[in-house]
Amino acid sequence: MIRSVVRGNGAALPRRIMKNADFEGMVETSDEWIVQRTGIRQRHVAADDETTASLGEAAARAALDSAGLTPADIDLIVLATSTPNNTFPATAVEIQNRLGMHHGFAFDMQAVCSGFVYAVATADLYIRGGLAKRVLVIGSETFSRILDWNDRSTCVLFGDGAGAVVLEAAEGRGDIGDRGVLAASLRSDGVHKDKLFVDGGPSTTGTVGHLRMEGREVFKHAVGMITDVIEATFAEARITANDLDWFVPHQANKRIIDASAKKLGIAEEKVVVTVDLHGNTSAASVPLALSVAVADGRIKKGDLVLLEAMGGGFTWGAVLLRW
Ligand code: UT7
Repeated sequence: MIRSVVRGNGAALPRRIMKNADFEGMVETSDEWIVQRTGIRQRHVAADDETTASLGEAAARAALDSAGLTPADIDLIVLATSTPNNTFPATAVEIQNRLGMHHGFAFDMQAVCSGFVYAVATADLYIRGGLAKRVLVIGSETFSRILDWNDRSTCVLFGDGAGAVVLEAAEGRGDIGDRGVLAASLRSDGVHKDKLFVDGGPSTTGTVGHLRMEGREVFKHAVGMITDVIEATFAEARITANDLDWFVPHQANKRIIDASAKKLGIAEEKVVVTVDLHGNTSAASVPLALSVAVADGRIKKGDLVLLEAMGGGFTWGAVLLRW
């Protein structure tokens, strides 16, 4: 059977780093509160000339380089983002143009923090359905543009950045030993809309709006939703937590990551944590974490890797793949 195998990956971060202490003169907060409650120590913040498209392009180029490919080899770009450059056209199409690609097709995927997991699951279906052979899957965000910088309960949590993978069609045996995407489970439930949303949009206010979150409410649901969807993924693939080499969760809060890993019985040393470096970068968080763990030699060819995310909507999901 056809599998979608990761052939390369890459990342891009804005030049400017903002430390927790940099917020102390802006809102009533402290480095101590942010570290204790979230695990975040710093985040990258985009300058005016750094956008979702430019960061996404840079991550895509890095992923292509690591795959030994050029844009000519790609037939589909799926960009996960909630902070597009424009309401339309899709920022994926802008990235396609920036890469000099005038063939194939590209579209954006909007599932907030779960966007990259949704995008990998979607790209896998395009590959297995025969509509694409090599897909650039990108998560790129500039959440700094939609933050209310006077709201201490949200502005300290998020950061900007981008990550990407190249997925390629390859023949597999159809068992758990195959490289590539092995299982995926996606979920959403709009009943939770008011707990995490942006208070503007083209069809309502005609404005971009700002991110609003009842953090405690999101936290309350997060661990249960994450562990449910991962258990469904384990059942589909007929594996247990012990079979995993690496757990690469959405990087929103170190306490959510720790509690989820503990509930699932995933050993601490198998958990990739980058929330301290990047904050919550929404759809970019999982591919950014992947890029760190691949660059430092932790994730290697043949490793069994579990990706997970949960965010606004609510949306949530998990993807199991062999690197
Ligand atoms: O990516 C999408 C998913 N998003 C998430 O997963 C976020 C989920 N939520 C969280 O990570 C946590 O709920 C937060 C980090 C947002 C908050 O942590 P918490 O332990 O749930 O704190 P809390 O909301 O219960 O707030 C505790 C106190 C409050 O003061 P009172 O009411 O106890 O007097 C807040 O006003 O901390 C206060 N507070 C702050 N204090 C200093 C809120 N933000 C800050 C701040 N600095 N930045």
